[in-house]
Amino acid sequence: MLNKKAQMTDDQKPLLKPQCRNMANMSWHDLRRSLIITTMKCRNYKRKSVFIILLGITILTLFGYLQTISSRYYVNQQPCRIPDLNPWDPSISNYIKQTESKCPELPPLMTVDHKGYLDFNQTSARHYGIKTKDLQCKYAVVQRNEDNDVIFEPEKEILLPFFIPGRFYRVQCKNKTGIIVYDFVHMNAEYLESSYGNIDTPEDNETYSFFFVGIDSASHSHVLRNLPLTYKYLTNDLHMYDFKGYMKVGMNSFPNLCPLLTGKSETEFPFYLNLMKMDSLPLLWKEKEFRSHMTLFVEDRPEIALFNYIKRGFVDQPTLYYFRPMSLAMAKFTPVIVSPLPEVTSECYGNLHQYDIVLEFYRRFLEKFRNKLRFAFFWNNQMSHESYTSLWQGDRPLLDFFHFLKYRGHLNNSILIVLSDHGYRLGGLSTTYVGRLENNLPFLSVYVPESLKRRFPWIHTNLMENSNRLVTVYDIHKTVSDISKKQFEYKTDGLVYSQRTARNLFHPIPKERTCVDAGVADNFCTCQESIKINPSHFKTALLGNYIVENINKLLEKFLISCHELKLSRVVDARVIYRSQEKELSVWEKFRHFLSPPEKDYTGRYTLTVETVPSFGLFEGVVVYEEFRESPDKGVEVAFAQQWIMADI
Ligand SMILES: *[C@@H]1O[C@H](CO)[C@@H](O)[C@H](O)[C@H]1NC(C)=O
Ligand SMILES: *[C@@H]1O[C@H](CO)[C@@H](O)[C@H](O)[C@H]1NC(C)=O
Ligand SMILES: *[C@@H]1O[C@H](CO)[C@@H](O)[C@H](O)[C@H]1NC(C)=O
Ligand SMILES: *[C@@H]1O[C@H](CO)[C@@H](O)[C@H](O)[C@H]1NC(C)=O
Repeated sequence: MLNKKAQMTDDQKPLLKPQCRNMANMSWHDLRRSLIITTMKCRNYKRKSVFIILLGITILTLFGYLQTISSRYYVNQQPCRIPDLNPWDPSISNYIKQTESKCPELPPLMTVDHKGYLDFNQTSARHYGIKTKDLQCKYAVVQRNEDNDVIFEPEKEILLPFFIPGRFYRVQCKNKTGIIVYDFVHMNAEYLESSYGNIDTPEDNETYSFFFVGIDSASHSHVLRNLPLTYKYLTNDLHMYDFKGYMKVGMNSFPNLCPLLTGKSETEFPFYLNLMKMDSLPLLWKEKEFRSHMTLFVEDRPEIALFNYIKRGFVDQPTLYYFRPMSLAMAKFTPVIVSPLPEVTSECYGNLHQYDIVLEFYRRFLEKFRNKLRFAFFWNNQMSHESYTSLWQGDRPLLDFFHFLKYRGHLNNSILIVLSDHGYRLGGLSTTYVGRLENNLPFLSVYVPESLKRRFPWIHTNLMENSNRLVTVYDIHKTVSDISKKQFEYKTDGLVYSQRTARNLFHPIPKERTCVDAGVADNFCTCQESIKINPSHFKTALLGNYIVENINKLLEKFLISCHELKLSRVVDARVIYRSQEKELSVWEKFRHFLSPPEKDYTGRYTLTVETVPSFGLFEGVVVYEEFRESPDKGVEVAFAQQWIMADI
């Protein structure tokens, strides 16, 4: 959907200078990628496909000596009031729609059974009028060639049924006239290289398995709107804890999932910015406590994958079961069942939905190691990442999956974490105020097995309390890590710190917790309510121009090919005034004492501005401070630009 948005019609293209024109032809992801790398080369787009560019928290002040004051004040130290959002808020009703993507309804000609044997489905063969005896079939095992490519090994002839010794393989069959009537990639979760032997360790009532189910770009509200069956099942049947104060800590997926999987901010791993391989990341499942766990990492959409998008991926396969080669192999050729099927898309592989394939791989892995220790990290990008209207289609498949987990006994000794990384960030709803709040409040729900709650009854009490507290991915990491180390002593720490503090979700989390304590970047802290101000308020033009000036500074290098931007109008403006916050610092009190402001306009302003030419939309956060240095001097101002979001 957004791909289409980013592409322009031919009659628009001549408006662009050559360099910008090239960008107009890029796919949305390439576009975003190149924009992030070059920090906005051009932005003469008429269409509004939104993306967000975090330009880093650059504190720019007109008065250098004020820098410390500004940054100290503007770190939000107020206890968090978690917004109570209405998923059906009238202001977003225009965006709440459902669209459907259907894959061709064709019966499967071949399947891999639960023992790992590939065979024809004779019912389907009859349906297609195919005599399976007449077909000549061969297979080629998919071989991982580092993280961004796969190769097919030399083909071998087979007679079905057959156990093909490979995790993923391509099967091709010709009929008597030599026409290819079947060409498909299959997966075999039963296959284990002999070198693995019997390293699997049984679960017991004190050592747990960990299952993650991640849905990219699904805010808490978005889940309530689109996954009603799943949500009800998690809450009522699995008795999971629904964390309403779960807040994102960074802009997009990696800044949120890096802390989840390592306990640290991505900024603590600067090497990945240099496009180094990701193997040295201290990922959770690599810790020694998980050495006996069978590991799985499944992610769809290889072009935007967590460790590969603007990054180099892994040299060595990161987990025992790793889905990426399958998705790369699927993208290599157009599948055939009797006749060629439509091109592979992010939604469909032949007659199969992409989400069914990843969930099936997850299921087969869990079954293969039933009752054994497992660590499984599943991340789905396709359901919700690019379209605001598609998530509802995941409700049935997800419900079936969770139902399967329970009824096959997979949850007896397991922790299940269902979560997202952030809400919807790309256009549509994210351009509304409610949408922007939703973006900061993703979905998180946690399952703890009865046996563990019986051992430590306080876990339940605390989880109930904490489901209304400010929590983040850092806390999830800490919780998983503590469980894996069998650290179950009851701890309570009611203090709130002025630095990031990872807290175990099983222990009491203070009501007074701040974004700083939680590790939420100031730009995404959604704890104080902002006041809407009239866009024609006399301050907004000043601040709007300040934002545009800073965008132009970033574009300086590219002005040969792109226009300088000018503020056309301020579309929307909100502020959290300093006076709304309870405590002023001693220094500020002193300054107010020297020169009490008549009306103190000091505060954190969030503006959406439109620029000319070509009417791009940007959002910027500017901290504005007003004071008199001495009573006889005029009002002076300081700005601190915190970040800019581009809505192009
Ligand atoms: C075989 O295909 C039919 C539809 O043609 C389907 O109903 C059935 O479930 C399939 N059997 C297996 C084992 O996949
Ligand atoms: C082989 O498949 C092609 C395409 O489906 C078909 O036209 C042809 O008749 C088939 N040949 C035989 C012997 O079934
Ligand atoms: C765990 O299982 C063992 C063996 O079945 C049993 O002796 C022990 O009491 C159990 N522990 C808990 C906390 O249920
Ligand atoms: C899970 O627990 C249930 C109820 O205690 C039991 O009936 C079932 O056999 C267990 N399943 C497994 C796989 O251990």
